[in-house]
Amino acid sequence: MLGARGGWRALRRCASLPRPLRLRVREALGAREPADAVRVQGWVRSVRSQKEVLFLHINDGSSLESLQVVADPSLEKRDLTFGSAVEVQGKLVKSPHRMQNMELQAETIRVVGPCDIWSFPLKMKERHPLEYVRQFPHLRCRSNTLGALLRIRSEATAGIHSFFQDNGYVHIHTPIITSNDCEGAGELFQIGTSSEAKESAEKTHFFNVPAFLTVSGQLHLEVMAGFTELMSNLQAVAGKGWKGEVWRRLTRAFTHVFTFGPTFRAENSQSRRHLAEFYMVEAELSFTESLQDIMQVMEDLFKTVTSTVLCKCPHDVELFHKYIAPAQKGRLEQILKHKFMIISYSEAVEILKQAPQTFTFKPEWGCDLQTEHEKYLVKHCGEVPVFVVNYPYDLKPFYMRDNEDGPQHTVAAVDLLVPGVGELCGGSLREERLPFLKSRLQRLGLTDAYQWYLDLRKFGSVPHGGFGMGFERYLQYILGVDNIKDVIPFPRFPHSCLL
Ligand code: 4AD
Ligand code: MG
Repeated sequence: MLGARGGWRALRRCASLPRPLRLRVREALGAREPADAVRVQGWVRSVRSQKEVLFLHINDGSSLESLQVVADPSLEKRDLTFGSAVEVQGKLVKSPHRMQNMELQAETIRVVGPCDIWSFPLKMKERHPLEYVRQFPHLRCRSNTLGALLRIRSEATAGIHSFFQDNGYVHIHTPIITSNDCEGAGELFQIGTSSEAKESAEKTHFFNVPAFLTVSGQLHLEVMAGFTELMSNLQAVAGKGWKGEVWRRLTRAFTHVFTFGPTFRAENSQSRRHLAEFYMVEAELSFTESLQDIMQVMEDLFKTVTSTVLCKCPHDVELFHKYIAPAQKGRLEQILKHKFMIISYSEAVEILKQAPQTFTFKPEWGCDLQTEHEKYLVKHCGEVPVFVVNYPYDLKPFYMRDNEDGPQHTVAAVDLLVPGVGELCGGSLREERLPFLKSRLQRLGLTDAYQWYLDLRKFGSVPHGGFGMGFERYLQYILGVDNIKDVIPFPRFPHSCLL
């Protein structure tokens, strides 16, 4: 036993020993100089035991490439297998191998968590198809493809925030639980407490009114994008006591706002481009009178974020472009160089009517564009992104601005269609004129529910507009992934009771 003094001395001795520098795999691979004492933690991607030497590859999710570990065969243990979690200490040295910069010469290998390779669904050196790994939502992030996807998703998220922040937009956290149904079409997820679900439907709601999971943050963004005028009215109400300085500071930023959060649609989530829960990026711009301005932001957002992702995750993106969607790389590079096309809805219908092929849904003015129509239109335009503008009034939600090109003929709406996915973005100018909005809401019997929305048009209304972009559809498009379930962290399966 050590006495109190002896223990203290021993502790001080330990503390003064140089601790091996802990490196992520990415840092180790990118190191410029060799290092004598390093420590790397990760999961074993391959084990190759030769008479003279033991080779391991370990990966910790920080990069697509794994770090090669070279060890004496005496360090091999029974539980050092593919999939096991390990901590390796040793020397980081220049690798004699042409394809890699650095490798780790192991002095110790500790198996932190063994892996039962017989029941582990991922196998060493196998390229598992996306459909196969989709069955293991809790394990598929250990595959190269999903690892790459998650890193790209993370960079794209940061890229979207940077794009808006750099362009003077304020980020707003819009509510997830709401009583409004912005799009007014399709099924909503209604929420209640678990005890409400057990009791009769007659019971009062937790919020006193029916509440739903949001289908869009747009209406809440509109409140914020109109802040300038609301504040100036508040000043009028507040009179002399109002602090002018605070008012000026607040008014500057709120004309341009964005949100980026979970969105829910109770629609057919078995399709390859629909999810029940997805992420939507939405922006709202006030003092905007032209659809062109909205389209410009959509195009700039797409091009800026895609360039950032290509630049920050070249190897991860290459994995998709090599094994999942060959030729997508070249197509994307071309798209980034050229302006997106613009056609009107009426032109689109004419193109479809003259198409040499027959469609399941006959194209008619006034009918929604179906997936088969969207596919044909982008093909007709040369497999490039196409904006379709000015849709029939009756097809679109109540908030869209009447173009006044006939009695309730078209609205200033825009959809961005992209090859392989279809609709990537939807946007519009909003109806800022009180009489127009009032009469539309009256016809729909929604006046009471949207009184607050009408208020926004009473107190200093300005021309404004915005759009929403489905984040998963964006990833699907740039990576060339066929099924939207392969670009989300956790695919839901009816038989998966875990997730
Ligand atoms: O076209 P949507 O319905 O537009 C709106 O919700 C507007 N309020 C947005 C706005 O103007 N602020 O949806 C926008 C985008 C679609 O173009 C599509 O990319 C994506 O959201 N989206 C879905 N993505 C995956 N699964 C679903 N079920 C989706 N529904 C829409
Ligand atoms: Mg839409």
